[in-house]
Parts: sequence; structure tokens; C-alpha cells
Amino acid sequence: MMESKDTAAFGVVCGFRAMFVGEMTSTPNSILITGAAGQLGKRLLSCAERRANLTVVGLDHDDLDVCNRDAVIKAIACYQPSVVIHTAAFTDVDRAESEVSQASKVNATAVRNVAEACRDSGASLIHISTDYVFGHGPRRPLNPDDPTDPKTVYGRTKLSGEKEFLDSGVAGAVVRVAWLYDSEGRNFMNTMLHLAALHRELKVVDDQFGIPTAAPVLADALLDMAERGTNMPQGVWHFAHAGHPTTWHGFATKIMEMAGLDVPVDRVATEAFPTPANRPSWSVLDGEPLRDVMGWPTQTWIDALTQVWALKQACG
Ligand SMILES: NC(=O)c1ccc[n+]([C@@H]2O[C@H](COP(=O)([O-])OP(=O)(O)OC[C@H]3O[C@@H](n4cnc5c(N)ncnc54)[C@H](OP(=O)(O)O)[C@@H]3O)[C@@H](O)[C@H]2O)c1
Repeated sequence: MMESKDTAAFGVVCGFRAMFVGEMTSTPNSILITGAAGQLGKRLLSCAERRANLTVVGLDHDDLDVCNRDAVIKAIACYQPSVVIHTAAFTDVDRAESEVSQASKVNATAVRNVAEACRDSGASLIHISTDYVFGHGPRRPLNPDDPTDPKTVYGRTKLSGEKEFLDSGVAGAVVRVAWLYDSEGRNFMNTMLHLAALHRELKVVDDQFGIPTAAPVLADALLDMAERGTNMPQGVWHFAHAGHPTTWHGFATKIMEMAGLDVPVDRVATEAFPTPANRPSWSVLDGEPLRDVMGWPTQTWIDALTQVWALKQACG
């Protein structure tokens, strides 16, 4: 259990090991986060600290296994959140190819558990999904109603999770994102910095296109949506920064520039790094419709990277 405020208190609530602030009863702004120890879950908790009007409880994998339907129902009945942000997922796209059943349980069946529990308790749900639900095109920013065609187990199971959400009739939104990274944790940015320090030369794929998503910006956006409660945009949406799409090579080059590292970044084709899962070659989501409906300012992915870099510097 992870809590978002300094004044957090430990306790056991309804049998859940818990750390929480104040009275976690249903208020217009009480949020429950699943997968709270993950990259996005952690960032949601730290962003929530700056919002005095929110009560946020985070349950990590040890506290709440979202595959356990009874536990999910119990947790939601216990905390009575107005909104659940469901970040828990089986995110290892290569391992998913050989662990199909577990990926399906976490990415699809568990979404049904969470969605139905939210629906029955009157909570709204924000469910995070992925660009991997798409195949290899068309080569323009993709909209939520573009045809899906997942090429991987991860993508297929995440698409099934979206369907579970929609079939449940729960209120809320599916928010698809791509290329998520943050200043901390295991992600592309930190891997590149680590490899640059080790090898003084990088070889990076230059034929997969996307727009990197800064977790701190995404987390604030999701909290904005959650604050709207039942008035949040409903259905399937894409979150993406603005700016020209790049490749992993382009992203790595910007990271090196930001870090002031004079490390050569060589372009290679996807075939240079064979992996069990077949990555999408086009992961460019159109974030403008959600930006417009939420009234967020337009921010390019390079501006967002600058923001994440500042956070990294601040953390030492
Ligand atoms: N990372 C990306 O580039 C990316 C891109 C597009 C979309 N997304 C989506 O964004 C969301 C957040 O991703 P992320 O980067 O924060 O992933 P992450 O760091 O892997 O976090 C996912 C969390 O879910 C937890 N989890 C796994 N199985 C669980 C279960 N049965 N019950 C409860 N918790 C469980 C994991 O715990 P353990 O580690 O203990 O298993 C982990 O803490 C996911 O829905 C993902 O599909 C991510």
C-alpha cells in the first residue's frame, strides 16, 4: 500500500495492509490507484501530493492482486473511491509471448474484475492501454477509432482488456499511451544513459516511429481527468504530446543532448535486435482530441523531455 501524502498513517483497513490519509470515504475526489509501485503508479502518487483536494490511495501488487476478483471487490467496497486509475498490467512485452495465460489474466480478465467492481460501486474507471493494440499503420497520427490489429500477445491482451472495460458498462475512460518513460526507474531514457556510460557508443533502432510520453505529464493529465469524476471524457482516448514523431534513435539522440553527453548514436534497423515480440513500426497516437476536450496546453514531446530532465536533475 502506498499513500500520497506526508501525513499518511499505517493501518489495516478491511483486511488490507494500508497506509492512508484522513478518512478514505467516498468524496468527490477520492482516487484508488492499482499497480501503485509501477512506473506510472508511483508518478501518480507523487503528482497527487501537490493536489490538496485529492485523497489518493495506492495499492501495489503485494497489497492487491487485481486477478483476485473477490479482493478487488473488497478493496473498492472498502475505500469507496470516486475514481479508480487502473495502471496494473503485465507490461513485459517479450515475456508475454511465452506467458500468454498470465498476460491474459492480468491485462484482460483483471480489467473485467476492476471494471465490474467500479460499475457496481458507482466509481468511474480510468484504464490505461497502449499503442500495441495497433498494427503497422496507417502512417498518420492514430485516432481511437482507427482499426486495431495487434501483432503481439501483449497487444492482443491489452485490446481484450479494453473490450472488458467497454462491455462492463462502467463509467470512465480508456486512455491509450505509447513509449512511456520517467526520470526514475527502468525505462528507455535510463537504459540509454546507463548504456552510454558503459559503452561510450549507442546503436539504436531507427525504423520504429512514435512520440515518447513523459510519465509526470501523463500522471497530471490523468489526475485532471479523475478530478472531473463522472464528467470526465467517456470512452476510448489517446494521450500523446505534440511535435513531430521521432524514432527510438531520435529519442536517444535528444536524451544524449539533454545530458550533455558526446556519445555517438548509430542508426540500426529493427532486425539488428531480434526480440520475441514484434514491435509496432508506427506508434504515433493523436493526442489532440483529448487535449482539446480537457483544455490542456499543447506541449511537444521535447518540452516534456526537458521537464523530465529537470526532475532528474533535481533528484540528483
Ligand atoms: N511502459 C510503457 O512504455 C507503456 C506504454 C504504453 C502503455 N503502457 C501501459 O501503462 C500502464 C502503466 O505502465 P507502467 O510503465 O507503469 O508499467 P509497470 O512499471 O510495469 O507497472 C505495472 C505494475 O503492475 C503491477 N502488476 C502486475 N500484475 C499485477 C497484478 N496481478 N495485480 C496487481 N498489480 C500487478 C506490477 O507489479 P509487479 O512488477 O510486482 O508485477 C507493476 O508494479 C500499463 O497499463 C501499461 O500497459 C505502458
